[in-house]
Amino acid sequence: MTEKDFLPNAYANLPARGKVKWKAPSNIALVKYWGKRANQIPANPSISFTLDACATTTSVEYTKKEDISQFSFDLFFEGKPKEDFKPKILTFFERIEEYLPFLKKYHFIIETSNSFPHSSGIASSASGMAALALCLVDIEKSIDKGITDTFFLKKASFLARLGSGSACRSVKGDLVQWGEHKGIAESSNLYGVDYPFRVNPVFKNFHDSILLVHKGQKQVSSTVGHNLMHDHPYAERRFAQAHDNLDKLKKVFESGDLEEFVNIVESEALTLHAMMMTSMPYFVLMKPDTLQIINKIWNFREETNVPICFTLDAGANVHVLYPESVKEKVTQFIQDELVAHCENGHYICDRIGSGAKKLIVHEE
Ligand code: DP6
Repeated sequence: MTEKDFLPNAYANLPARGKVKWKAPSNIALVKYWGKRANQIPANPSISFTLDACATTTSVEYTKKEDISQFSFDLFFEGKPKEDFKPKILTFFERIEEYLPFLKKYHFIIETSNSFPHSSGIASSASGMAALALCLVDIEKSIDKGITDTFFLKKASFLARLGSGSACRSVKGDLVQWGEHKGIAESSNLYGVDYPFRVNPVFKNFHDSILLVHKGQKQVSSTVGHNLMHDHPYAERRFAQAHDNLDKLKKVFESGDLEEFVNIVESEALTLHAMMMTSMPYFVLMKPDTLQIINKIWNFREETNVPICFTLDAGANVHVLYPESVKEKVTQFIQDELVAHCENGHYICDRIGSGAKKLIVHEE
């Protein structure tokens, strides 16, 4: 599919008003998206586990308006008006207007909240943009009844990408791939797809315990971060590596080879940070506690043979990944050894999830 396929047919009738509500999860990349071209086109393919507990719930109430010359919306975050989120939403609306030409015809009341604490250092852009994109395509669906379920999810992922790249991997579950890759025929730079090959059951109920090492604002916004890959001395090699790792994961997902899984996932995490450390300007986003956690994970794995590993986002928090079969042992290990490295002892127990859900709207 191309961008043009997401342009809608002329709308026949616009409903006067309505309300929709969606809950979209966060996701954690195994092969990282880092570097992009114009229009949110990724520089390399990525793949992620969709999460379950970490999610954003968003409702959008829409009322037809007279003045159709500009966008109009009110935004509430966790029940309170949130002016500082507005510019991001406005940019998003501008980017997606050609694909949803009804946007200027309505006034919207957007209410959004996260299941995880604000300022936990967990990126909410993936779940937030996915939830909003789903609400907006749902409104389009009430205008154009011919939209199929498959197209609906594809368009939601397509639009979510225009809000935040990784958000396109937060519409579906449980393993989502995004970005053209020769080994995956259905792969696209425009939206996320279900991972099409066999996945060993060991990956079907994987856990992700998110250790909140540092809850402050990110030192580098993802947009700035992605831009650092332009003119980066190692960029081309890195992009090629992401393709190779995706190829390697095919065998790993099929066989359930956790040793190789650990190698690929940890290498991807450290490569992401290596790219930041070797860009100009350069950044170190890991904290001393991040490194201590990593070392403790390595020691624990060495001593016990428990197949746990870590991955990182563009921040200091550590995602600890492990299969269901070792849940008790790892929970104990986290309690005994790792919680001490978390800010105020905070961490979130999450697991692989099945994608976004539509919620019932209760009219007040
Ligand atoms: C390190 O999706 O937040 O989490 O497209 O600029 O919104 P924008 O970037 P974003 O980047 C996420 C980068 C990452 C790796 C990943 O999720 O693949």
